[in-house]
Amino acid sequence: MKVSATTEAPRSTGADTVVVGLFDGKGIPHDFEDGSLQALVDSGEARSKFKSLAVSHFEGTRVVLVGLGAREDFDLERARIAAAVALGRARELRARTLCWELPHKVSDDHPAALVEGTLLAAYRFTRYKKADDDPVLEALTISAHHDVAEAVERGRVVAEAANVVRDLQNTPANDATPTMLAEHARALASELGLECDVLGREQIRAAGMGAFAAVAQGAVEDPALITLKYTPPTPGATGPVIGLVGKAVTFDTGGVSIKPAKGMSDMKFDMSGGAAVLGAIEAIARLKLPVRVIAVVGATENVVGSGAVKPGDIVRAKTGTTIEVINTDAEGRLVLCDCLAHAIDCGAERLVDIATLTGGIVTTFGSVHAGLFGTDDDWCAAVSAAGDASGERVWRLPLDAEYAKALDGRYGDLINSNEDRKATSITGAEFLRKFVGDTPWVHLDIAGVAWNRGTEYAAKGGNAFGMRLMVELARGLTA
Ligand code: BES
Ligand code: MN
Ligand code: ZN
Repeated sequence: MKVSATTEAPRSTGADTVVVGLFDGKGIPHDFEDGSLQALVDSGEARSKFKSLAVSHFEGTRVVLVGLGAREDFDLERARIAAAVALGRARELRARTLCWELPHKVSDDHPAALVEGTLLAAYRFTRYKKADDDPVLEALTISAHHDVAEAVERGRVVAEAANVVRDLQNTPANDATPTMLAEHARALASELGLECDVLGREQIRAAGMGAFAAVAQGAVEDPALITLKYTPPTPGATGPVIGLVGKAVTFDTGGVSIKPAKGMSDMKFDMSGGAAVLGAIEAIARLKLPVRVIAVVGATENVVGSGAVKPGDIVRAKTGTTIEVINTDAEGRLVLCDCLAHAIDCGAERLVDIATLTGGIVTTFGSVHAGLFGTDDDWCAAVSAAGDASGERVWRLPLDAEYAKALDGRYGDLINSNEDRKATSITGAEFLRKFVGDTPWVHLDIAGVAWNRGTEYAAKGGNAFGMRLMVELARGLTA
């Protein structure tokens, strides 16, 4: 889709559909010569109530009027939602080219949010479906009195990267293998000039990552430890090296501690954290942000087989810590503990890990918030603020030595899960904490939000949760 900014009036852009927002008590900003839009408001057909829709026509141009509610409530998330709702009606009317008239007196980031909401809502996962005759949106223009090109371009880059992440998420595990994710990473690296390194099964073992290797050992599919490094094109990036670490279990059967059949197909989404990390470094590199980033993605299947890790097996992580595998379904932490240690070895100075780690977080927050855990208040606050800006909201839960006790080893240093299943999300985070030393670290548990989140702009399937948050976090460190 062609995405652009203009200072021309919406109708001069030639778009077949113009979107006009209505704030409470504000009236139509730029009406047609015949006053027909204001007339529609006066008659009560077009309303400013948030998300309400009306349609009008003037000399061959279609107008979608969308309610924006009160101007003071119109934050970036409302802008994304309004854009998605407007696109939905425009699609029904078979629009091909759309022009949004930027509402007056909004922030510099609102044009980006309108682009994001439109592009995310326009996404379809069609790889395995016969072609239908749904029209595709060919062009989106944001019309404003001032130059909004930077924000529009940023919104485009971020939303397109998010839609790539959604393709990775939605692709089933027979095609979205660790090898496929590694190839995707290599392609990004060669296009964007990133450093890329991929370790396979033997190399993961040889690097001493016995926890990661144990999860992978039951699978015929080769695992991949993917490392991507982004260094900004212009020197002088003085901020900390950001380490983004993602869980990419391309399918989680639970292993020998096997999961129930119901809903298991959704475990193709257990690579969502890793996919979000790939998308984040992609967007950061495309935007040429002045930050240094190391992305580490631990990709493997967690399946059953005669070679699979068994409950009671004791493995040695890269840091030397031994772990008794009580439950093979608590595999994410086994993958991540070695990935976190690897990221620190590669020079990461601040860490964010992102993972569909526990069913417990789904019970806690449903599809509204991701769980946030961390040791450094400032770093937690920075991640949290980034999530507020991106519309991927997170909520902090406590860490405490009392919780960590549940993981005290019996035959080894640690157990990977406690059988009573108390506070599984927190103990999962406590487990990871043991591998990050004193590097400021945040763990995001996205098990409840990574797919079928139900937002207007990404209701079903993967939604790239956390990817835009990480880009926003990187942007915040440059400001
Ligand atoms: N991938 C799952 C977590 C999950 C559950 C994600 C539901 C999305 C939806 C993870 O590997 C897992 O199985 N976690 C276990 C941990 C437990 C054994 C300590 C869980 O939460 O049940
Ligand atoms: Mn599991
Ligand atoms: Zn899992």
